[in-house]
Amino acid sequence: MALLHILNYPDKRLNKVAKSVAVVDDRIRKLVVDMAETMYAAPGVGLAATQVDVHKRVITIDVSDAHDDLKVFINPEIVWVSDEKKDWEEGCLSVPGIYDFVERPDKVCVKALNEKGETFEIDCDGLLAVCIQHEMDHLNGHVFVEYLSPLKQTRIRGKMKKLEKAL
Ligand code: NI
Repeated sequence: MALLHILNYPDKRLNKVAKSVAVVDDRIRKLVVDMAETMYAAPGVGLAATQVDVHKRVITIDVSDAHDDLKVFINPEIVWVSDEKKDWEEGCLSVPGIYDFVERPDKVCVKALNEKGETFEIDCDGLLAVCIQHEMDHLNGHVFVEYLSPLKQTRIRGKMKKLEKAL
């Protein structure tokens, strides 16, 4: 197991579009283990491979209170989204200390492969629905701050620069 380095916004590598996983093999399973360890250590509820500079369509999520319900999504696809939308306050391990509201579909159904390479489908609502949409955005090269006003985005970039200098 290994902790992976998480890229910080506005790193351009966060804008790369991740490629589909052709075969779920031991390399992918090792990536999943390392991503989960990195996510739990952060601590965070979700991580996309893009955030650790691996541009493959892999996501780990655990929204449980006890942190004992790891969900792995490989090559996730949205099957269905609800017309109803909801505002949730989001944060991101790649944008530390920044939280703001984003409107997204309230419920989604997602199809993906698990770490065994088996297809599954899951109906998501609440935090899980928010999280899977947020992480799938990462795989497509998007960070949640892009939904915010240009003024807010400029402010956030300024804050991130200061943070980088302090490190
Ligand atoms: Ni994020």
